[in-house]
Amino acid sequence: MAKLKLAVLISGGGSNLQAIIDACAKRDYPAEIGLVFSNQTDAKGLDRARKAGIRAEAIAHKGYPGGRESYDAAVSALIEQSGADLVVLAGYFRLVGESFVTRWQGRLINIHPSLLPSFKGLHAHEQTITAGVKFSGCTVHYVVPEMDAGPIIAQAVVPVLPGDDAPALAHRVLKQEHRLYPEVIRWIAEGRVHVGENGIVTIRDSRRPDFAETSPIIASR
Ligand code: GRF
Repeated sequence: MAKLKLAVLISGGGSNLQAIIDACAKRDYPAEIGLVFSNQTDAKGLDRARKAGIRAEAIAHKGYPGGRESYDAAVSALIEQSGADLVVLAGYFRLVGESFVTRWQGRLINIHPSLLPSFKGLHAHEQTITAGVKFSGCTVHYVVPEMDAGPIIAQAVVPVLPGDDAPALAHRVLKQEHRLYPEVIRWIAEGRVHVGENGIVTIRDSRRPDFAETSPIIASR
């Protein structure tokens, strides 16, 4: 069966991208990456892509003529050209405009390092620690025009431990991001993710256990 083709958008280190590259390297994984794109020409993730033999493109958003709409249109054109079925935001630190979201709606996902709807936006780990909550984690969701909103596909949970600072918490959460994102992409590729009219996502068919059942919520480090 044809594999689901991904365009992965990044801005920085690309550790989530690496987790997806590693998953795609497995023969039975049902997705492949056709394009990695960055709005930062020096993003480290671009090297990860090139090293894996994946097409990597960057267009600096700073100074791009015509503003957000025209920038997003250029990005959309690259994605279309790559033949992507699914656009994966993986640490893409740039708001995408409404026409971009509309163009890719239902085929555009994001990962955020908190248990949404709590702690949207930048500095999620700092927000989490300041609020004093005892659990954090990550959320994979479909993208809608409102930032860090949109139907939640899956979450993984980790404890916030006494003495945690943002880097310590980020490290613990990232480990789960690297498990969760490739798993969700697999579910989508297998056609198992269904968004109800109420916006609630269900994962169909549990021939094998879902991530939620095996997630380390589950109060481990
Ligand atoms: C991750 O924590 C992701 O959830 C957030 O940005 C970070 C990107 O990390 N959106 P990386 O570039 O994948 O290492």
